[in-house]
Amino acid sequence: MTWWYAVVEAEHELQNPTSEEKIRLLGERLGLGPGSHVLDVACGRGGPALVLAREFGCRLTCVERSPEFVAGARERVAAAGLEDRIELVESDAATFELGRYDAALCLGATFVYGGLVPTLERLSAAAPLVAVGEPYWRTWPPPPEAEREGEEWLLLHPTIERAESAGVRVVSLIASSEDDWDRYESLRWQTLDSWLAANPEHPQAEEFRARGAANRDRYLRSQRASLGWAILVCRS
Ligand SMILES: C[S@@+](CC[C@H](N)C(=O)[O-])C[C@H]1O[C@@H](n2cnc3c(N)ncnc32)[C@H](O)[C@@H]1O
Repeated sequence: MTWWYAVVEAEHELQNPTSEEKIRLLGERLGLGPGSHVLDVACGRGGPALVLAREFGCRLTCVERSPEFVAGARERVAAAGLEDRIELVESDAATFELGRYDAALCLGATFVYGGLVPTLERLSAAAPLVAVGEPYWRTWPPPPEAEREGEEWLLLHPTIERAESAGVRVVSLIASSEDDWDRYESLRWQTLDSWLAANPEHPQAEEFRARGAANRDRYLRSQRASLGWAILVCRS
């Protein structure tokens, strides 16, 4: 079986609605430098790690479960000549034994530990600074389909209160713009379109075509106006 995300995010440099500039800002907010050791939970194809290692000279330990994304990250790290700074571990992050770090990241994957609060509790025990990337609603009430699908995101202010209920202080906010969202979402459309053209007889082609169309429709109809995403920098 071909994994949906391995197809639609095969070309993404960053697998979240953010930008290289915002990841650099994150590195500044975390005070990273050549002596820093950073944990990146669910690192995907290694996009944020590549920016941080290159810009700040820090060392990163990156944990990712998907073999496709680990392979993509390995290629990118080798192409950038950053093997000495970026360690890639193929593992379920939920069972990965944490060490001590100067900062920990979990960008777009707090589901790994069961949500925002358990993620912050777990990572703040391992690092004094934790950055989580989390969706939030920009308008209320959320679109009806969100409730049907059991999404429990909140408006931004209650999201921050929810984060602080984990015993951390939110000390910085790096929110996504509409451009960040369009770039992230529409690169999925384009990548899927190319994949379908190259694999017309693939047994999952029709399923993927339908899924892509439904996701695009949902994004344009409601999410583009109502869904936000932000990196919260938290101090333990
Ligand atoms: C939205 S992507 C974010 C990737 C990366 N943090 C970035 O910002 O580019 C979420 C990632 O979580 C990974 N993931 C999901 N469950 C995981 C788990 N239990 N352990 C490690 N990685 C996991 C997925 O394979 C995917 O790469």
